[in-house]
Amino acid sequence: MAGRLEGKVALVTGGGRGIGREEVLLLAREGAKVVINDLGTSTEGQGSDGGVAQAMADEIRAAGGDAVANGDSVAEMAGGRRMVECAMDHFGRLDILINNAGITKLSPIYEMSEEDWDIVHAVNTKGVFTTVRHAAPIMMQQRSGVIINTCSASGLGHLHMSNYASSKEAVVGFTRSIARDLGPYGIRCNAIRPMAQTRMSNADIAETMRISQRQFGIPAVGNEWLDGKSTGFKPEQVAAVVVWLATDKTKSVNGRTFMIARQEVGLYTEPEATRVAFHPDGWDLDALDSPAAQAFLAGVLKNVFQPAE
Ligand SMILES: NC(=O)c1ccc[n+]([C@@H]2O[C@H](COP(=O)([O-])OP(=O)(O)OC[C@H]3O[C@@H](n4cnc5c(N)ncnc54)[C@H](O)[C@@H]3O)[C@@H](O)[C@H]2O)c1
Repeated sequence: MAGRLEGKVALVTGGGRGIGREEVLLLAREGAKVVINDLGTSTEGQGSDGGVAQAMADEIRAAGGDAVANGDSVAEMAGGRRMVECAMDHFGRLDILINNAGITKLSPIYEMSEEDWDIVHAVNTKGVFTTVRHAAPIMMQQRSGVIINTCSASGLGHLHMSNYASSKEAVVGFTRSIARDLGPYGIRCNAIRPMAQTRMSNADIAETMRISQRQFGIPAVGNEWLDGKSTGFKPEQVAAVVVWLATDKTKSVNGRTFMIARQEVGLYTEPEATRVAFHPDGWDLDALDSPAAQAFLAGVLKNVFQPAE
C-alpha cells in the first residue's frame, strides 16, 4: 500500500543524506510533496554545498514525485523561515516537519572549545527552534500538523559527547513542551532516538558508544553494531517509523520519544522520581546525614567510573 500521505506537504531538514535522505524517499513514495533542506555540510558542520539538496530534489522529480530544494542552515532564524516559506510558496501548506539535520563533534569536556560547544548547539538545538517557530503558526491555522524531532541515545550520557548529548536532550524537553503548546491546535510532536549506519556513525563514535555502554553502563541501543559485528542498522528502518509517526495511524501519540535500531522500535519512559523519601520537617543537612537518608540512597551509591590513568 502506498499513498498514505497523498496531498500532504513535508519539510525534512538535512534531507539530502543519511537518515534524512531515506525519510525524503519514503515520504515521496507515500505521495507527499517534499521540501528538502540540506546545507550540504560535513558531520562536524564545516563547509556547505547547495548541490546536496538540489540533487535529492532532482532525484525525487525524476522518479515522478514533487520536491523542491532549500540550502539554508537550520542554525539561522532566517534559514528556518525561508524553508517554511518555501513549502508555502511552492505547495501552499505544511503538514509534516521532520527536524533531522544534525552534527557532532567529539571531545572530552576538559578539552572542548567554546566553538565546538556553540556550533553543535546552534545546529542541533536552535536548529529545531528555527523551523518550529515558523511552522507552528501555519499548522495552527490549518488546525493540523505533525512535527518529529531527531534526538539521540547519546543524550543518555555517552563519553566525550557532552555538547552533542546536551544539545539532543534539550530537544527531548523541547518536544514534550511544544506537544503541550500545540496539542490543542491539532498538532502533535514526537521525538526519536535513531540508530543507523551513515557517515555520522563513524569508527570514533562507535568506539565512544561501546565504551560508554560496556564500561559505564549507559543503556544499550544496538549492541551488536557497537561490537562491529552487524551491518543491519539501516536508515530506511528509521525512515519507516518516522513516516508512520507522520500518518493518522499514530494520531493519538503526542510528546513521546521513540527508539529505532535495526529490527527494534522502542518507546522511552518519561522521567519520574524512582524513589521518594519523606521527612516531616523537610530535609536539612542533619536529617540528610542520618541513617534514614542512607537507606534512601541504598543501592545508588555505586560509582561505576574507573579512575583516570
Ligand atoms: N546515524 C545515527 O546512528 C544517529 C544516531 C543518533 C542520532 N542521529 C541523528 O540523526 C540525524 C541525521 O543523522 P545522519 O546519521 O543521517 O547524518 P548525516 O551526516 O548523514 O546527515 C545529516 C545531514 O544534515 C545536514 N546538515 C548538517 N547541518 C545542517 C544545517 N545547519 N542546516 C541544514 N542541514 C544540515 C548535512 O549536510 C547532512 O546531509 C542527526 O540529527 C543525527 O544527530 C543519528
